[in-house]
Formats: sequence, C-alpha cells, structure tokens
Amino acid sequence: MKNKKYKGISTVTLHTADKENDNFSHTTPIYATSTFTFDSTNEGMERFKSTDKTRIYSRWGNPTFVAAEKTIEALEAHGLKDEKGEPLELKGLLHSSGQAAMSTLFFSNLSAGDTLLSHYSLYGGTQELMQKILSEAGIKTLLIDVRDLKLVEKTIGENPEIKLIHLETPANPTIQCVDIEAICKIAHQHKIKVSVDNTVATPYLQQPFALGADFVFHSATKFLNGHGSAISGVLLGKDLAFMQSKVWKWHVLLGGNSNAFDAYLLIQGMKTLEIRMDRHCSNTEKVAAYLSNHPAIEKVNYTGLVSHPDHAIAKKQMKKHAPLISFELKGGLEAGKVFIDALEVCTRAVSLGTVDTLVSHPATMTHYGIPREERIKFGITDGLIRMSVGIENYEDLEADLEQALAKI
Ligand SMILES: Cc1ncc(COP(=O)(O)O)c(C=O)c1O
Repeated sequence: MKNKKYKGISTVTLHTADKENDNFSHTTPIYATSTFTFDSTNEGMERFKSTDKTRIYSRWGNPTFVAAEKTIEALEAHGLKDEKGEPLELKGLLHSSGQAAMSTLFFSNLSAGDTLLSHYSLYGGTQELMQKILSEAGIKTLLIDVRDLKLVEKTIGENPEIKLIHLETPANPTIQCVDIEAICKIAHQHKIKVSVDNTVATPYLQQPFALGADFVFHSATKFLNGHGSAISGVLLGKDLAFMQSKVWKWHVLLGGNSNAFDAYLLIQGMKTLEIRMDRHCSNTEKVAAYLSNHPAIEKVNYTGLVSHPDHAIAKKQMKKHAPLISFELKGGLEAGKVFIDALEVCTRAVSLGTVDTLVSHPATMTHYGIPREERIKFGITDGLIRMSVGIENYEDLEADLEQALAKI
C-alpha cells in the first residue's frame, strides 16, 4: 500500500477502504465467501501465479480483509518515508485474532534453536505463547528489563542466537514503556529484527516504523475496532518481499485468517479512531489526576503522570499519553473487589480499547496463567486494577468512581 497524500489520519481511515467494490456500495461490502470463481482454467492459473492472492480462497485473502489491511497499512505508514525518501510502503496481514497474528510473527521469524528477547512486562497471552508454545517448538524466550539498555547489549552479547526482539509499549497492564528507537539501533547493529505491539498506543499516538521497527503488531480487537464488536489481529512489515513470501506462507498455513464480517466491523470502527482516541486520552488524563489525588488510592500507573518511571520515554515516542491506566487501592485486593463490584457506569470486563470504560483485575483474569511470583516481579500485584478509559462524559465517570470508592 502506497502512503497516500492525506494530511490527517481521519481522512485515511475514512477514505482508504471505500473503493473496493464494483457495485457502488458506500460501505465496504462483506464478501462472505470461502472461494472465488474463475471464468476459465487459464484465469485460475493466472490468479495462482500472481503475487495478489486475495481472490482465490478466503484463507489466502478476501477483498473485505484487503480493505481493512490497506487502512491499517496507511495508518502505520502515514507521513513516513523509506530509506530512498519515497513514501513508506507496508504489507499488513489481517488475522482472526491478535494471538493468531503473533503466532505468524514468531513462527515466520524464529525456528528451533533461536532465542526471542522481550521486555518482562507483557500481556499475559503473549507471555504464555512465548513460554508455553514457543518453548515446545525449541524456541527460547528471555524476559528482561529492556529499559536497561546496557542489559540489552549484555544479553545480546551472551546470546548470539537471539533473532527477534519483541516490544509491547505501553505494556498491558503495567503501562511500562520501552525506548523503541534505542532498542532498534542496538538490535540492528547485531542484525536482530524488532517487532512492536502497538495495540495500546495505536498508530495515532505512536508509529514504530518511524522509530526503526521491522514489524508492527496489533490486537485490532482493541482501539482499532473500538467498539468491542469483533476479535482480530494484524501483522505489518516493511520488507514487502519477506511479508509476501515467508510471512504470508506461515499465515495461510497456520490458518489464522480473519472473516469478512469481523473485517467489516474493524473497517467501520477505524473510521472514528482519531476522534475516539482524543476523547479516550483526555478522559484518561482526568481520571488519572482524580485517582492520584484520592486518599483511598495507593498508586496510579499512567505515563502522563511525571511520577511514572517511563514518563520521559512515553513523551518522546507518543503523541499523547495512551488511554490505559492501572492502580492499587490502599486496602489491597479486598478493597479492590468492593470497588469493582460497586461500579455502576464502568463495565466489568477484560479487553481494552472499547468506547465504554472497562475495569478488570489482571492477577485473576488476563494474567491468571502467569505464576504469582513472576507477575508480582513484573508489577502485576494482587491488588492491581486495570482501567481502559472510555469516551463517556467525564462527569459521569468521576461520579461513578467517587461512589464506588466511598463504599470501600
Ligand atoms: C497488548 C495486547 N497484545 C495482544 C493481545 C492479544 O490479542 P487478541 O485477544 O486479539 O488475540 C492483547 C489482548 O488483550 C493485548 O492486550
């Protein structure tokens, strides 16, 4: 996808996907079909030979997926140039879930004997994929504090089999941030590729390709979709030949393809990404300020607070602070349960990035599969509460927090 001339990303999300049909439909059609017809054997043969394999069989691609992929490619490449000074061109592959896209990322870049290096604060499913699935395939994972750049250098020096560094920044749910540009520089000196999970920031707040990343990953289930209406994931790369050959092969053979309805929901959701993100961000700033001044609160993790250890990195690489916070109550887990159960506006649910505010308890929910000592070391304490701040009117959010905090 060529990086088009649009100045702003709302124009990108509104006008990239809408030319994908011959029947003048205003919205992108849902191509609910498993297979595509050929007028002749020769035509079928030509389509198989072509690099465009999106109209053969829907596990290989589908026009509705293509429309979503093109929009996300345009978002991640917006305003960026390649080494030749040309508009950056990316290839994105839409998957059935974030986990499917991540499986394609890891298995197309790593094989038995290789090592994956990552930061120690990750979404639980990512950490479990690394430690429970990749390990079975002979791929080792090292989890360190990659904010310590000297430790990154030392670990690479001691482990020449590291082939990929995977970063999740900001991380869910600790909101830790790592310096993408600095890590890419070190990695590339050692011919190591870098992938970035950009789920929490979205391309509106952070563009990892501008900072040197080789791959960008999204759980598109979250802010990209924005409405909690579908599960999907996307993997993007700037090495087009590699994306169209090996990565595509792993994608279709692992079978993590999306479906046309979820792709359609994603396209519709992305249209309001910029205005949603602005409201998510301003509400989060206010919620973080309110909570950090409340006597019942022990600690608030939000990169917008100068007290956050990664405030400077977050400010350097994100346009605004991402709309995800976590916090601990002075009364610990028991107070947390009373607080969560008392909420009347905020929704009790895992996931993040939906238009309504979601509140969850990582230790017993998203990070249930991570051993206690390990998650506590990484910052996921028993009392930690995570809040994905929605776009409600702020006054209603504050009133809800106030009445729930008054009950503990
Ligand atoms: C940061 C992050 N990465 C990856 C995933 C996995 O995505 P999915 O649930 O779409 O498979 C999640 C899910 O919560 C996430 O929060």
